[in-house]
Amino acid sequence: MITYPTAAVFPPLPAGGTPLSDLQKEVIALKQARDAIILAHNYQCEDIQGVADFVGDSLGLAYKAAAAQQSTIVFCGVHFMAETAKIVNPSRRVLLPDLAAGCSLADSCPAEKLAAAKAADPALYVVAYINCSAAVKAISDVIVTSGNASKIVSRVPADRPILFVPDQNLGRWVSGKTGRAMQLWPGNCYAHVQFTPGALLRAKAAHPGAPVVAHPECTEAVREMADMVCSTELMVDWCKRQSADTIIITTESGMIHRLRREVPGKTFVAAPTDRCSCNDCRFMKMNTLQKLRDCLRDGTPEITLTEEIRSAAEVPLRRMLEWSL
Ligand code: 13P
Ligand code: SF4
Repeated sequence: MITYPTAAVFPPLPAGGTPLSDLQKEVIALKQARDAIILAHNYQCEDIQGVADFVGDSLGLAYKAAAAQQSTIVFCGVHFMAETAKIVNPSRRVLLPDLAAGCSLADSCPAEKLAAAKAADPALYVVAYINCSAAVKAISDVIVTSGNASKIVSRVPADRPILFVPDQNLGRWVSGKTGRAMQLWPGNCYAHVQFTPGALLRAKAAHPGAPVVAHPECTEAVREMADMVCSTELMVDWCKRQSADTIIITTESGMIHRLRREVPGKTFVAAPTDRCSCNDCRFMKMNTLQKLRDCLRDGTPEITLTEEIRSAAEVPLRRMLEWSL
């Protein structure tokens, strides 16, 4: 008989919070000395979230990066997120603690392949999920995040056929919500597709009555089992509004650190996969507090882009930021 892992359970944080470690104090001191702002995605590890000036989803991070006044932005997330910061705020030095922190979605859509698809059908309107490279953004018409995708897609001219890249799961979800037919690029998030209906059923059986929230990068079969499907940022508000004291979180497990801080008094269950009691993105977890300290101390690794790519990528990104308001 197969034994499946049971879901990891995170009870409410004790009152008073945890004191900062020596390394966290060193990071904060370096941040001040280097005139830096630390932006962290919701999937970063707990000790990085604990020293960040802002923790949020891709959309919130893009706005924060655009408005950053500090001379250095340290982006604790993955490569495409740090590139986005450089695109919208090019005069700042943008650092990423581990330059190898990529994304399976971004990898699934090389710019040359997208250029070939556009050449084959010049009428296509390319809607690109922000999880793509700067080179892909540079040849897209508008960018979306999971937090604004439906709003943006509903503004695409009705007479243009849409090609949605690179996440077919998010694309299918947006198409269902907006009623807009779209061609879907065959990419997916390797981490979110590991959630299965069977694993979610077992978590629900172990926590009867606990509502389920899922990220739209999950497969349709998993999304259909969720009470709510939304971006990581919207999960925070949704969890605050739930009367249940236990909630099942179907996304990368770093999200639970943010939820425990901002939604006190609730127990969060990390949705398991068939192989693991919670689910981490190996790319997000390449950043560590030590690498963050080293990157602040040494001013490297830095994100660089040619001005040709940066300025072309800025056009659909700015369109997104404007259409999102
Ligand atoms: P959010 O924009 O919802 O934070 O998602 C980003 C991401 O990479 C999800 O895997
Ligand atoms: Fe990319 Fe998935 Fe990791 Fe998000 S969780 S950064 S989509 S691989």
